Amino acid sequence: MKESEFTKVNPLVRDASLWSAEDGEGAELEVSEFIGALVRLLKPKFVVETGCYKGQTTREIARALQENGHGYLYSCDTDQERVLAVRKTVSPQWGAVASAPGVAGV
Ligand SMILES: C[S@@+](CC[C@H](N)C(=O)[O-])C[C@H]1O[C@@H](n2cnc3c(N)ncnc32)[C@H](O)[C@@H]1O
Repeated sequence: MKESEFTKVNPLVRDASLWSAEDGEGAELEVSEFIGALVRLLKPKFVVETGCYKGQTTREIARALQENGHGYLYSCDTDQERVLAVRKTVSPQWGAVASAPGVAGV
């Protein structure tokens, strides 16, 4: 789908149809790919992702770490169902997906 289905025209994003997204909550595909490219470039020892949602970026990061042959991803989400679903898609060799308690009162 085109990002324009979820993002209205605004001064910062004049043509959201140039980007792709599965829905209005997840990252744009290009953003996930960019983060994967950063992981390939920087070769981090650890990566922390807060909010895995459906795991699109989680999987990009884990794939990049695997290609690097080095590093580990710690991801989390406050939504337990999302955590359980995404955890199944990430090799424990490259990452762990945990439940986050969230911030009290928020
Ligand atoms: C914009 S989505 C994340 C998009 C995702 N990273 C992707 O690549 O598509 C935000 C996610 O953060 C989660 N979330 C919200 N507050 C959080 C918190 N305090 N700690 C961890 N996850 C949180 C939500 O449940 C939701 O799944």
